Amino acid sequence: MLILGIETSCDDTGIAIVEVAPTKVGVMFNILSNTISSQIKVHQKYGGIVPNLAAREHLRNIEPCLKQAFKQAKVKPEQIDLIAATIGPGLIPSLLIGVHFAKTLAYKWQKPIVGVNHIEAHILAILLKNKKIKFPAIALVVSGGHTQLILMSDIGKYKILGETRDDAAGECFDKVAKLLGLGYPGGPEISKQAEECKKSNIDLPRPMINHKNYDFSFSGLKTAVLYKTKDMGSLAPHISALCKETQQAIIDVLMEKTLRAAKEYKAKTIILSGGVAANEELRNQLNVKCKLLNVNFLVPTKNLCTDNGAMIAVAGYFNKSTKNVKANANLRIGQ
Ligand code: KG4
Ligand code: ZN
Repeated sequence: MLILGIETSCDDTGIAIVEVAPTKVGVMFNILSNTISSQIKVHQKYGGIVPNLAAREHLRNIEPCLKQAFKQAKVKPEQIDLIAATIGPGLIPSLLIGVHFAKTLAYKWQKPIVGVNHIEAHILAILLKNKKIKFPAIALVVSGGHTQLILMSDIGKYKILGETRDDAAGECFDKVAKLLGLGYPGGPEISKQAEECKKSNIDLPRPMINHKNYDFSFSGLKTAVLYKTKDMGSLAPHISALCKETQQAIIDVLMEKTLRAAKEYKAKTIILSGGVAANEELRNQLNVKCKLLNVNFLVPTKNLCTDNGAMIAVAGYFNKSTKNVKANANLRIGQ
């Protein structure tokens, strides 16, 4: 079976063709193509994503991406069995482009179409490594738009345990980077700078770390960085220490809550996903803790942590019978 996955929820246009092959113990996923058109250059000068510009760029890039996806996969539209498109959550101008493009293709080629929840797709991206998830699992989805801790009792069965009350973890990386005059997206820039610092002598708060719930709050961390910089005069000598401490503050809060949830729900697996899951330190530190707890740790390869069409195709496979293909900026997982 061949699935065409279409992702346009934020600022990346992603189109992929994924083959689903039956095996003795289930199915195997094989990425035939996974084309991504990044808009980083367009949004860079604003230090964040401008929704209407994102939609305009999706419109410009989506057809070339589709052509490239078919060329790379060496397949023809007639061979596609299912079209899967992100319907939410995300930026509505961006979502509408992908959803309508997918509907047009479905009509033109007379193919079935399914709508995919972007958060579920981030979690199921792990299946592209053809790893088995042992349940119950705790999924930490951390991206530029979302920070959610999710209890997963099976594929398709989700309960949100907690989420951010303000900025997402990735948004915090992005805003701190902007404040420090670093580039966009902020996550990779901050982690690169953090590597330069052996030990940070700066103390930042770990917001909500001791609250007995699974919610997060990251906007105060950005403000705390702002106050630190006010006492500093020249920023340059402190940049790497500020980056190291910001990164560690975010990691500490994410890990504390994830591990606590894993213990409370007797999780057999912890899944880390979303753009921030590309962070090397977060991957390493969570991996070490999972080993100590004897919990399976699953994280997609770095290029599949950030938005892409292949994860949409996988999620489409598990939602074959879903009929709702309507863009919804506030779509919730598990409801
Ligand atoms: O999942 P994603 O591509 O898009 C959304 O759905 O938001 O995530 C993008 C976010 C950005 O905020 C970016 O700064 C962050 O992921 N990110 C990282 C790293 N790479 C990307 N954050 C920390 N460390 C990284 N290496
Ligand atoms: Zn995402």
